[in-house]
Formats: sequence, C-alpha cells, structure tokens
Amino acid sequence: VGVAGRWLTFIALTVLLGTMGAFVVLRRAGAATTGRLGRAAACGLAAALVMLPGAAARLAAQLTALGDPTMTMPDYRALAAAAIGHTQWGHMWTAQVVLAVVAAVAFVAARRGRAGAWLVAGVTACLLAATPALAGHAIGVDHNRVLVVAADILHVIAAGTWVGTLAVLAVCGLVWPIDGQHDAATGMRIVDAFSPVALTSAALIVASGTVGAWAHLGTLPALWQTYYGRVLVVKVALVMTVLAAGAFNWRRATPRLAKGHGLAEAGLVRAIIIELTLGALVLGATAVLVASPLPGME
Ligand code: HEM
Repeated sequence: VGVAGRWLTFIALTVLLGTMGAFVVLRRAGAATTGRLGRAAACGLAAALVMLPGAAARLAAQLTALGDPTMTMPDYRALAAAAIGHTQWGHMWTAQVVLAVVAAVAFVAARRGRAGAWLVAGVTACLLAATPALAGHAIGVDHNRVLVVAADILHVIAAGTWVGTLAVLAVCGLVWPIDGQHDAATGMRIVDAFSPVALTSAALIVASGTVGAWAHLGTLPALWQTYYGRVLVVKVALVMTVLAAGAFNWRRATPRLAKGHGLAEAGLVRAIIIELTLGALVLGATAVLVASPLPGME
C-alpha cells in the first residue's frame, strides 16, 4: 500500500507540475486555445484529486508501520493524531492534502476561464514540489542540508517540467486529437516549444539526482553493496532507457514532422507513449527508493 500510495502521489505531482509546464509551452507555441487550456486544466484537476487517495494510502502505510505488532487492534485514531500532528512527516502530509485541494479549486476556476487561477495553480504546484524533500531523506541529512533539500526540490520540479509536461501535452493534442483530428502544423510548433524545456529539465534532473545520490550513498561501493544503492541502479538504468528512447524517437520523428508527415505517421504518437510508460516506471522505482533504508541505517 505504501509503495502504491507513493507511486500514485509521484505520478499525480508530476502531472500537476506538468500542467503548468504545458500552460507555458502552449502559450509559447501560440497554441493556447480554449480547448487545449481546458484539457490542460482538466489534467491538473485530475492530478490534484488523485493526490488525495495517494495521501490516504501513504497515511495507512505509515500507521501500519507505527502500530505495535504485538497488539491485536492498535489505537489507529491516536496513532493518526500523533503521526499527523507531531511529526515533520505529518506536517508535510497535511500541507500536501491542503495544497492539493487548493490546486483542485484553482484548476476548476482555470477551466472556467477565471483570470488569476493559473497563477494560483502555479504557486500551489511549486509549494507542493517542496513537500517530498521536506518529508523524506533529504531533510534528514547531516551535512549540506540546504543544498540537498534544494536539489531535491529542483529534481521534483524538473521531473514535472519534463515527463509531466509531455503527459499533459499528449492529452492536449499531441496524442489525443483535438476535434477528432491531429493538427500536424500546431503539433510541430508545440514540439519546437517543448524541446528546449525537455532538454533543460533532463539535464537538471541528472545533475540534481546526482547530488541526492552522492548525499545519500556516502561511498561509491554503497551503490552495489546496499539495498538502497541497488534500487538506485535500477532507477538510473530506467532513466537511461527513457533518455535513449526519447533521443532516438525525437530524432526520427521531428525531421519527419518537418517534412509534412502527420503526428502519428511521423512516429511521434508512439514515441510519446513509450517515453511516458518508461517515465511512469522511473517514478515506480522512485517510490521504492524513497522508502528504502539509507546505507548505514539498514
Ligand atoms: C540520473 C538520473 C536520476 C538520478 C541519479 C536520481 C536520483 C534520485 C535520488 C537520489 C533521489 C532521492 C531519493 C531519496 O529521498 O532517498 C530521487 C528522488 C526522486 N526522483 Fe530521481 N533521479 C534521477 C532521475 C529521475 C527522473 C527522470 C525522474 C522523473 C521521471 C525522477 C523523479 C524523482 C522523484 C519524483 C523523486 C522524489 C523526491 C523525494 O521524495 O524527495 N528522478 N532521485
């Protein structure tokens, strides 16, 4: 339940941040039509709502872990009050739930065309991006805490602006057609506007992830000698596959698009689906990683 809850939360947070990325990319591409922005806001709303069952599953797992195994029926109400009210994890859990509700309301307002709603959603998304770092391994490090927490927040934001933005753009016309048909010319403009965002985000993800890995592993041999290290190796192998698949497919698809092929014909639709599936697996590996005991703490 804990891994599923964290996975759901990471997917939802990534898509929520990606909604803001898609908002910027669509505007830069001159493709911010009411239809596309409406779909983007619907993605943001769905992501914000999915954070709630994700949080419930994480709380259930936390209470089970805290419960006394010798008792047949631990007092879960008292445990919940203690976990939520008196721990850093609980404060961040509460912040996440409150911010998810605020984001949901902002996306409903954005769908109705309310001015300022996208700004509220953007600020809320940035605050949400800080919650994993402030509740997990990053805040617990003994050395360079500010650097490690900042790198972790940047890592989560970059995951959103790369994988999350791609997911939302897929829904806003790149994979799921608008008005029943793919618009290749607009698709090309969206791809052009997204490419520098994706490249920058990928570079930031690798750099910030390396800072986190260095801080948590301590030594190089911990990479293969500890459970945490081995999960990290699996995660990085998956990331390499996403990067390779992304580079290969985009290099093939983009020139074909430029030659006037449709989005599906150029192989872009398939490329995006493969990249997003692998991205979801990376988040699955991350859901295991963040709950694994750090080297030296097993
Ligand atoms: C070379 C690439 C990468 C490396 C070395 C790396 C490494 C790490 C490390 C060390 C952590 C901290 C785990 C902990 O708290 O114990 C982390 C967290 C995380 N990573 Fe990555 N990562 C990489 C790529 C990615 C990618 C591509 C994504 C998105 C698809 C991603 C999403 C996340 C998320 C959402 C977290 C959770 C942050 C938290 O709970 O504090 N990472 N990563």
